[in-house]
Amino acid sequence: MASITPRTVLVLGGGSDIGAACVAALAGHGVRHVVLAARSPHDAVTALRSALSAADPAPAGAPEILGLAWDALDVDGAESLLDEIHEAVGVPDVVIVAVGLLGHHAGLGLTPAQVDKMVRTNFAGPAAALAAVAERLADSPGGPRSLVVLSSVAGVRPRRSNFAYGSSKAGLDAFALGLSDALADTSVRVLVVRPGFVRSSMTVGLDPAPFATNPETVGRHVGRAVLSGRSGVISVPPILGPLFSILRSLPVPLWRRIAGNR
Ligand SMILES: NC(=O)c1ccc[n+]([C@@H]2O[C@H](COP(=O)([O-])OP(=O)(O)OC[C@H]3O[C@@H](n4cnc5c(N)ncnc54)[C@H](OP(=O)(O)O)[C@@H]3O)[C@@H](O)[C@H]2O)c1
Repeated sequence: MASITPRTVLVLGGGSDIGAACVAALAGHGVRHVVLAARSPHDAVTALRSALSAADPAPAGAPEILGLAWDALDVDGAESLLDEIHEAVGVPDVVIVAVGLLGHHAGLGLTPAQVDKMVRTNFAGPAAALAAVAERLADSPGGPRSLVVLSSVAGVRPRRSNFAYGSSKAGLDAFALGLSDALADTSVRVLVVRPGFVRSSMTVGLDPAPFATNPETVGRHVGRAVLSGRSGVISVPPILGPLFSILRSLPVPLWRRIAGNR
């Protein structure tokens, strides 16, 4: 496993708290440029600056941060975004896909339009961008490079309260794993990250689930895995990996009892 030097980092869904924590974890390891592709790039840049200044330990040397307007639902916009990034900073060494939409209720009661938006935001939009970025990375000389996809344990076994969100994350997760196989003979590594409940903007107002964690912890795990050139799946916290491989095989009545309404 060759290690990765993350000189240029791109975050798709650049306003994400977890995305910012991942950048903060990498920042002390040679990051010169960070590109935040976000619906509100100005806010994303401001949030990352404050995450970097609050990071412990503080990263040495502040990277240049560029915010670019991007909406994951504008599938045709992916290629022009990548052209713009290429012109500004070259080919990224690390790309973090952090787009996500949970909503405080993702079970029964969603309208067809809400389900459609959730599936396009969590799966179709990021998958389209991921496909485009993977081609660019694979076609570029040099490397190794890393594609980090923020999936979720919610996709391992969707439950009654989150089946729209969980199934859309499961789609993205499967897409990323297949993409990883397709890239096996290239210098691009795909890392699929399955966090449990993370206290971030996405979960404000929700009761934390067991093994709840915070963006910084996810960032540290992602940072370590990326720097070591790792590919495959990591769960955060790691205990959720073996736990969910048991939970996914439980008989339905037992699973429904355990999952309850959460
Ligand atoms: N928090 C958790 O408990 C948890 C657990 C497991 C996995 N995850 C996953 O981790 C990733 C990051 O989540 P987070 O916790 O950091 O939440 P977050 O801070 O809410 O980040 C999600 C980001 O997705 C962006 N986004 C939503 N729709 C978009 C669109 N159409 N185009 C571009 N960007 C869009 C949001 O942008 P705006 O700022 O413009 O809304 C937001 O910056 C997500 O993929 C999420 O599913 C989160």
